[in-house]
Amino acid sequence: MKIAIGSDHAGYRLKGEVAALAKKLGNQVLDLGTHSEESVDYPDFAVKVAQAVSRGEAGLGILVCGTGLGMAIAANKVRGIRAVTCGDTFSARASREHNNANVLCIGARVTGGGLALDIVRIWLESEFQGGRHQRRVSKITEIESTK
Ligand code: RB5
Repeated sequence: MKIAIGSDHAGYRLKGEVAALAKKLGNQVLDLGTHSEESVDYPDFAVKVAQAVSRGEAGLGILVCGTGLGMAIAANKVRGIRAVTCGDTFSARASREHNNANVLCIGARVTGGGLALDIVRIWLESEFQGGRHQRRVSKITEIESTK
C-alpha cells in the first residue's frame, strides 16, 4: 500500500523512523514533508497528507507533530478523512478495526520512539472489521453533508 506521511519540525525526526518502518513492512512511502527541523506550520502538512488520502493517491496517511493533536484537528477538516491521535497500541488497533481511521497522528513530544513505532506497526497491520462498524462509520460520513 502507498502511505502518505508528513510532519512539522517537532515530528521531523520521528517521521524518518516511521517512513523506514512503513517501507520495511512492505509499503511504498509518499513523503510530503517537512524536510528539516526548521520551524513550519503543521496545518500545511496535515492538509497535504489528508488530501492525498482523500483523493486516493495514498491508501493511508501518518502525521507526526509535537502532540499529534493539531495534525488531527487539521486533517479532519478534509472530506473523507478519519484522523486519530494514538498514544497506545489498543487504541491504534481499534481505530482501524472499528473506526476505519485513515490517518494516524502521533505526538513525538508525548510518545516515546519505541512505543510510537509499535503503534504505527499495529495500525498498519490492522484491518477494518466492517459489519456493525460500517453502519457507524457511515453515520460519521453523513455528518459531512450537514451544516
Ligand atoms: C509545534 O510547536 C506544536 O505546536 C505542534 O508540533 C503540535 O504539537 C501541534 O498540535
